[in-house]
Amino acid sequence: MKKILTIISILLIAVSASAKTKKVIVAYFSASGITEGVAKELAKEKNAELYAITPEKIYTSEDLDYRSMQSRSSIEMKDKNSRPALKEKKDLSKYDEIYIGYPIWWNVAPRIINTFIEQANLKGKIVYPFATSGSSGIENSVNELKASYPEVKWQEGKLMKKAR
Ligand SMILES: Cc1cc2nc3c(=O)[nH]c(=O)nc-3n(C[C@H](O)[C@H](O)[C@H](O)COP(=O)(O)O)c2cc1C
Repeated sequence: MKKILTIISILLIAVSASAKTKKVIVAYFSASGITEGVAKELAKEKNAELYAITPEKIYTSEDLDYRSMQSRSSIEMKDKNSRPALKEKKDLSKYDEIYIGYPIWWNVAPRIINTFIEQANLKGKIVYPFATSGSSGIENSVNELKASYPEVKWQEGKLMKKAR
């Protein structure tokens, strides 16, 4: 009996310790605030750290003009290998649960998401992608991420409603 009680207490301690140390992060890129609103709500709901993926050079409204093929976003999105610089590095290897959010640009994730993933140490990590968009779905963007980063355990993507 005493042995059983000891085992139960050890198990309870282990469970409560692991629950306490579970680290969750919601990392997002948002050029005009919509994804940011959604990310903030998600972080609150998940009791997670909130992290803004910030470009070294902030996108102006001219940069975001998708009608102009000469705008910064159009030039970046035309080039699969474009990797816009980040303001800072962020390693995600210490987190147990990772959410990555972005606006859909030209039916995929903005290239800065690639820059971010490539420096975040996500090998073997479970990652939940989420996005906002004008009307496109998230599936194509997640398929592209899966193909580019097969070492990440991508979960089903979630297109979120506008939070602003
Ligand atoms: C350069 C650019 C390309 C976009 N491409 C798409 C698209 O292919 N499909 C779509 O539904 N919305 C598209 N949008 C709209 C954004 O996905 C949408 O407004 C998003 O919610 C913006 O999020 P943010 O405020 O966090 O930047 C595009 C917006 C920009 C600026």
